[in-house]
Amino acid sequence: MKFIDDFNNPKDPLAVRVERFNRYLNKIRGTHDWMFQRAHGGGAPCSSQKQRGSGAGPRRHFIRLDSNDYLGLGRHPAIKRAFDEAFKLYGMGTDGSPLLSGYSQATLKLEHALAGLHHKEDAVVFASTYAANLAVLQGLLLTSDCVILDQAVHTSVRDGALLAGCQVVIFKHNDPGDLEKILKKTNPKKTLVCVDSVYSMRGCVADLVPLVALVKKSGAMMVVDEAHAVGVFGKKGEGRVCDLGLSASVNVITGSLGKALATHGGYVAADRSLCQFLRYRAHPYMFSSALPPTVSASALKSLEIMRSGALVQKLKTNIRSVREAMKKRGLAVNDDDTATIPVPVGDEVATMQSAARLRKKGILINPSIYPAVPKGRGILRMSISAQHSVDELSRAVMEIAGVGRKK
Ligand SMILES: Cc1ncc(COP(=O)(O)O)c(C=O)c1O
Repeated sequence: MKFIDDFNNPKDPLAVRVERFNRYLNKIRGTHDWMFQRAHGGGAPCSSQKQRGSGAGPRRHFIRLDSNDYLGLGRHPAIKRAFDEAFKLYGMGTDGSPLLSGYSQATLKLEHALAGLHHKEDAVVFASTYAANLAVLQGLLLTSDCVILDQAVHTSVRDGALLAGCQVVIFKHNDPGDLEKILKKTNPKKTLVCVDSVYSMRGCVADLVPLVALVKKSGAMMVVDEAHAVGVFGKKGEGRVCDLGLSASVNVITGSLGKALATHGGYVAADRSLCQFLRYRAHPYMFSSALPPTVSASALKSLEIMRSGALVQKLKTNIRSVREAMKKRGLAVNDDDTATIPVPVGDEVATMQSAARLRKKGILINPSIYPAVPKGRGILRMSISAQHSVDELSRAVMEIAGVGRKK
């Protein structure tokens, strides 16, 4: 199940794998501006902003399309106040694992609010969504069990399956027919099915209604990762499961505090018994430091602002306007209304050069190249925020149209 790419050939000694990968990186890096691992110097979250480039260069304005802060909450004064007040009360550390001294009233309140958001009985907060996904799979599954994953599911879910050591079966991306065939061959009582609600690299949504219906009919359990759906879908950002009226049919929802909620951490929302089980059985929860209470208090405030709904509506308007502008310029784009939109470019060097060229024009956008995407099919991933103005977005689309592949 471990991804085999050109750099982790099992026949190679460890040192050769390191060497081979570094040679590849250095070759693509070439002479142009390198777009990975740039240490920024701060600035406003998403809109035009001043940001220092690498080194001590001059500060300048950028339109940022490179952030998961979809609602533009990262600098909200009310969130800063919540952080400051929690800092006075709790200090900065976490004291330990949440099972022991690391659990705080701030986290307890956040868990209640997250359970409410997803119409579930309870929620468990983790130090990251990566850890939350590992926890669900490692905590629930034994080697004699089976997990069925959408082909495009997030790496954290795949890694959870590796940690569980169970049988792993992959179904074709968003293909209920393929899932149905696989479900017929498994013991549903010992099977978990996992999908992402939004596939952020592909800029598309899961076909949740038929997928959830199939899993429910089979009697298997289902996990939906709403990391890129919360804050973006639903009237007040409650995500797609809730928006589609599927909360009662999906056993486990995982979500992120570090994307639209602009803080840090992840969570599981489920029924009370499953949450209790994970608190005492999931290693990423029990054997890792808790989320700091300052972060929990800030996330709770983010959630409150998100649920007032105004920023969610602004984000939706921005997403629609970008999609329309892209269509007008002949760029390939679907109608899925996700906040991330991939722009196909081509090979690795061309993709990196396009991102660097856009940076020179004042637009920050994330490139994605092999092995994160198939070889020769590099993309630029545009992330839209409620903070962008219509003018900024139309300027960005105009510049991107100059580098992206047309339909
Ligand atoms: C679908 C999905 N799940 C989980 C994660 C991990 O989230 P976190 O950064 O909170 O660990 C990501 C991060 O990009 C993601 O896209």
